[in-house]
Amino acid sequence: MEYKITTNSEEETIELAQNIESEKFPNMVICLEGDLGSGKTLFTKAFARSMGIKENITSPTFNIIKEYIGEMKLFHMDVYRLNEVKEDLGIVDYFNKRGVTIIEWSDLIPDLLPKNRLEIKIRVIDENRRVFVLVPYGQKYEELCASVI
Ligand SMILES: Nc1ncnc2c1ncn2[C@@H]1O[C@H](COP(=O)(O)OP(=O)(O)OP(=O)(O)O)[C@@H](O)[C@H]1O
Ligand SMILES: [Mg+2]
Repeated sequence: MEYKITTNSEEETIELAQNIESEKFPNMVICLEGDLGSGKTLFTKAFARSMGIKENITSPTFNIIKEYIGEMKLFHMDVYRLNEVKEDLGIVDYFNKRGVTIIEWSDLIPDLLPKNRLEIKIRVIDENRRVFVLVPYGQKYEELCASVI
């Protein structure tokens, strides 16, 4: 099952992130795929704010992983430059630290992704419009999509 949602503005994307956040659970993993500037970081920022994280969320392009604390922990990853990093960052260990993990450019690390996860593919339509395709893997994520959409 795939769920397609078009957002016509930044605000509508923020609303979508808030709706998904309201169904969060420990060890939730959200995989974001989409071109440069499609809205992966914007989605993550809105999700973080909705989790009660006050700290400014910055794109973790160079650090790869950033950790925040709100109602739950948030692990924000951007794996775009992962191949330039020589050390093992222990990415998969984050999936069971009881927080929420959001991964930008998750399509670059298919072998590291957990079996159960929410994949979100973002397509740019024009300056202000995006299509979000939600693909749930596993029952929990299917239920989440059903209640969010
Ligand atoms: N409907 C929309 N949803 C999300 N972002 C939108 C929308 N309309 C316009 N935008 C703009 O698109 C840009 C998205 O940038 P963002 O940094 O979130 O992209 P990204 O996918 O994280 O890019 P990168 O791959 O460089 O990390 C922002 O400038 C935002 O204002
Ligand atoms: Mg980004």
